[in-house]
Amino acid sequence: MINIAIMGHGVVGSGVAEILINHNDRIKNRVKQDINVKHILDLRDFNVAYSDKFTKDFNDILNDDSVSVVAEVMGGITPAYDFVKACLLKGKSVVTSNKELVAAKGAELIKIANEKNVSFLFEASVGGGIPVLRPISNCLAANEIDEIWGILNGTTNYILNKMIVDNMDFASALKLAQDLGFAERNPAADVEGHDACRKICILSALAYGKHVYPDQVKTEGITEITLDDVEYADNFGAVIKLIGHSKKVENGKIIASVRPTLVSRSHILAGVNGVFNAVVVNGDQTGEVAFYGKGAGKEATASAVVGDIIDCIKNQNNEKYLTWEDGSADYVDTRYSESSPLYVTLKGDDFAALKGEFSSVLSDICDSHIMNEYKNEIAFITKPNNESFVKDKLTALKTVNSYKILHTMF
Ligand code: HSE
Repeated sequence: MINIAIMGHGVVGSGVAEILINHNDRIKNRVKQDINVKHILDLRDFNVAYSDKFTKDFNDILNDDSVSVVAEVMGGITPAYDFVKACLLKGKSVVTSNKELVAAKGAELIKIANEKNVSFLFEASVGGGIPVLRPISNCLAANEIDEIWGILNGTTNYILNKMIVDNMDFASALKLAQDLGFAERNPAADVEGHDACRKICILSALAYGKHVYPDQVKTEGITEITLDDVEYADNFGAVIKLIGHSKKVENGKIIASVRPTLVSRSHILAGVNGVFNAVVVNGDQTGEVAFYGKGAGKEATASAVVGDIIDCIKNQNNEKYLTWEDGSADYVDTRYSESSPLYVTLKGDDFAALKGEFSSVLSDICDSHIMNEYKNEIAFITKPNNESFVKDKLTALKTVNSYKILHTMF
């Protein structure tokens, strides 16, 4: 008999409990052992069929030697980090959906798990129900992966999609996402890009073998994206998506970013809509491989957590495969800048003067442009260029009150 504890009975935790309890026979057949949810840790009271399993005391789990697998689905760093570390040190395998925890403390927790010969698995932390971490580390193990792109946040993808398809402004689309339960009441982690940042950190650490810390990733959210940007992008044959990206560059370093990006309508990521996520990785043997599915939601995320629980039980004595080494301060090259087409908007009070300066100063770097006299705005796509070079040119302009630069995937 395998005894399991679940820490947290929120959206994901209740989904994990329901799968393990309501589909007990299915799981039992897969692991060829009886399984039992013995404890559920939560400070709140719940009126559910399995109310007898609840505890408010973490020590009931930690000190119960019959519990060999713990699912951490509380989220956040405190107290999740202390609880997970204590369970691993006690020789219990831990699975988690907590991207904040894995992005901040993954290397340390993996090391402890390896020393104790237990599992620390976190498939649900990236892409919700999409199997992506295990396939990267197992099925693509023959490859050298050198680049990753992803739509890694369902909430922002839903909001951008509403702006693109229904012409809804950012604030209204966010409100709708909150009303429908997709966005958190405090949506900052989603709309400011921090959630996607944690996910690109985890993917990069796994694919390249070294921890990437969230503060090493250039992160921008979608709060400055307007309906005008959406319309200009459409005219340039693109849609705006929040893209997590990382790539191996020179001297063993990588670059990593999360940015709103104009994605060509012909690119595979342009068709990823609503709360769906997708990850594309480039392997030297396979070329590009894409993973697609529901990036959030109770059942999809719980499915990944339970998949990890089954993995822990089936591979108790096998070598552990999800692993990477500690990061370092200079591993992510924050100054490296690639030359690529950029999307730029310029705003000024005097449109005739703005137009004149644009023609005289920027025509040599402009590939195509849109003049919006009504809004005193010019939008254009540059020829492939370095961002700092373009920024320097824009900063020197006299007729421009404000400008915006977005990256592109054409
Ligand atoms: N807030 C996250 C999202 C949940 O919108 O994608 C899944 O990690």
